[in-house]
Amino acid sequence: MLYQLSAVYKSNRSLFLQSDMASTVTFTSVSAQAGLIQKPRNNGVTSYSGLKTSSSSVSFGLESSFLGRNASLRASVAPRIVPKAASGSQISPQASYKVAVLGAAGGIGQPLGLLIKMSPLVSELHLYDIANVKGVAADLSHCNTPAQVLDFTGPSELANCLKGVDVVVIPAGVPRKPGMTRDDLFNINASIVKSLVEAVADNCPDAFIHIISNPVNSTVPIAAEVLKQKGVYNPKKLFGVTTLDVVRANTFVAQKKNLKLIDVDVPVVGGHAGITILPLLSKTRPSVTFTDEETEELTKRIQNAGTEVVEAKAGAGSATLSMAYAAARFVESSLRALAGDPDVYECTFIQSEVTDLPFFASRVKLGKNGVESVVSADLEGVTEYEAKALEALKAELKGSIEKGIAFANKQQEAAASV
Ligand code: NAD
Ligand code: LMR
Repeated sequence: MLYQLSAVYKSNRSLFLQSDMASTVTFTSVSAQAGLIQKPRNNGVTSYSGLKTSSSSVSFGLESSFLGRNASLRASVAPRIVPKAASGSQISPQASYKVAVLGAAGGIGQPLGLLIKMSPLVSELHLYDIANVKGVAADLSHCNTPAQVLDFTGPSELANCLKGVDVVVIPAGVPRKPGMTRDDLFNINASIVKSLVEAVADNCPDAFIHIISNPVNSTVPIAAEVLKQKGVYNPKKLFGVTTLDVVRANTFVAQKKNLKLIDVDVPVVGGHAGITILPLLSKTRPSVTFTDEETEELTKRIQNAGTEVVEAKAGAGSATLSMAYAAARFVESSLRALAGDPDVYECTFIQSEVTDLPFFASRVKLGKNGVESVVSADLEGVTEYEAKALEALKAELKGSIEKGIAFANKQQEAAASV
């Protein structure tokens, strides 16, 4: 059934920023609600991670939804913009993006699959793993949301999984146990990421690639080298997923300062391990002041939050549910960017020129072609504490990046000499 909706989208916020949304449980966003209107912020960026602003008259079809056909859901669909033949002033959004999850049967992969299955923007969800993915796909396929779920098991089915895909998310690999660092995962996960990204290069080189597998500070440089070796590297489309650091920072700051979660946005820059995770608390929106003790305590908690979960799980893995939530937010933002939403911002670990390091997590503006611009202003006017922390993280981050690059190049040399 075709629903017609003419709506002026004043301001939309992603579900992923909302804590107080019991009545507005949509995967994507909630629009035009009193109290949710986002005013332009004072650093030239009009919206932040997960926020969107657009203004358009839309009409769209929606077959079914787990939420039913309520106005909130309909108004929340971030459209894929296709000009209508008959009318230049209307746009017709469709659930038309294909998303692949590699490592889909795992702790992150399963809840991430569910969240992506809930997106009205997704037409096909491709689930790949080396084992146990059939059951996950059968289970998810019963949810009455638009995305068709397809399963792919083992390397022989990987190419078919990837063909025609718009976004590839990679959470494949082993997680930490108590006492381990993320770098301790390198020996296993480096090879996994390398082989999966080779397949991405061969089958969907234009896709957005989201790397979750740790150590992100090394696996993203590995992916970049593999894509270069294959001659298809586009630095604007390769992302290390650091959204969980932002999600945590927002949560912890809101708790500490007694703020409404929906209002809080903390940029987190650097990398994704220990001291390389640098929350820029001085850039928190809304503007809020912290004592030196609060800054120290919050920064340490955000940096150690992954370890906090690893220890609480006591050997059963690392963050999976909050990670799936964060990864789904990043997927959602990417799809909105692909759909032409002009106002999508996320922090992510990318090839970078904002410091002397070749990769660095920054807040970026996402567009149809990936990273459109980097919000380098985040690194201007930082506090002395943040400036020192930035200098302190560089050696470790540089080492992790170089380790990834060296691994990929060594593998290539070894392959060439066979
Ligand atoms: P998990 O062990 O529960 O799941 C991993 C899945 O990957 C398994 O289903 C496994 O079969 C699959 N897998 C292994 N090798 C594969 C291959 N070659 N191809 C396809 N699938 C393969 O682990 P998890 O808890 O889901 O964590 C996965 C990774 O994500 C870990 O490396 C973890 O450290 C990382 N992680 C990153 C963040 C982040 O913020 N970026 C947060 C949490 C976890
Ligand atoms: C996290 O931040 O939770 C992940 O990187 C997993 C981990 O090992 O801490």
